[in-house]
Amino acid sequence: MPNHPVSSPNDEATIRVRVRRFDPQTNGQPPYWQDFQVPRGRVARLLDVLQYLQQEDPTIATRPHFCRDLVCNGCYVNYNGKPRMSCMTPLNARVTDITLEPLQGYRVIRDLVVDFLDKTCGNSAAEDEAGV
Ligand code: FES
Repeated sequence: MPNHPVSSPNDEATIRVRVRRFDPQTNGQPPYWQDFQVPRGRVARLLDVLQYLQQEDPTIATRPHFCRDLVCNGCYVNYNGKPRMSCMTPLNARVTDITLEPLQGYRVIRDLVVDFLDKTCGNSAAEDEAGV
């Protein structure tokens, strides 16, 4: 599986962010995890992490715009296994590891972006095959 850390291993100055990547347009490429190190000083809310990732690796699919104010729903992700609106989720100063996945129950368009109009009962066949 591809795994391309953006920077050095985790330390107190960074948060390790594990992102579930998946692109259904790639024939048979199963989902995989990619780790990033996000500077702690640059993030106060989970949305700051998403925007940092957008800047550091434009290949990560997130919504192109965030209202930052509970209007667009574009910041919804699974954060450590639970659905969260990123713009309303503060990050505790002691957080060292974060896992980000697309919102469960919806068809994944790519990476962290889901189709809110296509609510499914679970993961796609490719995701199930990969056991992710
Ligand atoms: S950024 Fe729009 S709802 Fe969170």
